[in-house]
Amino acid sequence: MEWKNLVLKSSEGGVWTLTMNRPQALNALNRETILELEQALHFLQEQSTMEARVLIVTGSGEKAFVAGADIKEMVALSPELARQFTEKGQKVFRQLEMLRMPVIAAVNGFALGGGLELALSCDFIYASENAKFGLPEVSLGLMPGFGGCVRLSRVVGLNKAREMAMTGDMLTANEAVSLGLVQKVLPGSELMNHVLKVANTIIGRGPKAVAAVKRVVIDGHDLDADGALALEASHFSKLFQFNDSREGMNAFIEKRKAQFTGN
Ligand code: CAA
Repeated sequence: MEWKNLVLKSSEGGVWTLTMNRPQALNALNRETILELEQALHFLQEQSTMEARVLIVTGSGEKAFVAGADIKEMVALSPELARQFTEKGQKVFRQLEMLRMPVIAAVNGFALGGGLELALSCDFIYASENAKFGLPEVSLGLMPGFGGCVRLSRVVGLNKAREMAMTGDMLTANEAVSLGLVQKVLPGSELMNHVLKVANTIIGRGPKAVAAVKRVVIDGHDLDADGALALEASHFSKLFQFNDSREGMNAFIEKRKAQFTGN
């Protein structure tokens, strides 16, 4: 499938790369891009377990991951259209967060406003040395509208999230690592290789097990401790009905590499 503002490519083993592709606007998210993202995520969710194992999200060019929602488009919005825009963006980012496969953000430059919100909707983040993270919406007289206040505070804590969203100040990539927002910083030329290496590590694991981990972490986060533990017990026990769990445990016992099939 082809889109105007995104490029979706698959590579060997079931790794897909989604590149936000409006470099002339630092990959800013206009309405059309969000609708295309919705279609691309729907397409990925429809792929079979073994055909779509990991998604990498990145930005086109060397300067930006995504510099936020498109300010030149937003300036004309009425409150009613702004509500439709925020609700659509939130829905699509939630769709990304809930995607069956793990999603890794490769942040290769500015991740501001909607760009940071996009990265926060991925499972985890690696960044290039020139990456910058921030919620600068207040400097436009606005606030984050694609889940930024909600997701950032869950990752960096309430006070840091409030400081970032109230000042609009940016973090360097190293500061983002020290807050647990980013896993690791790499030279720009090495970022994608590193992310592919991580993706390939995940591909070597049991696909149903990885998907269960994703579900329990995301769904369990919104439950109380008893509910979250019950959810974990349910997913843990269900894995024993699949061939892959037998294969994984037998491979350990027989001192060989497991051959997972997704069944
Ligand atoms: N929307 C639309 N266009 C954007 C954009 C955005 N968010 N960010 C950058 N661009 C455009 C610029 O207008 C410029 O276009 P022209 O060449 O046609 O003038 C081009 O991209 C290059 O940008 P700059 O010349 O500004 O590049 P720079 O290196 O001087 O600065 C920057 C880079 C610091 C990222 C700066 O572009 C910037 O501050 N961008 C806006 C960041 C921002 O405020 N993001 C939040 C948006 S609101 C939001 O996201 C709401 C929400 O949560 C839903």
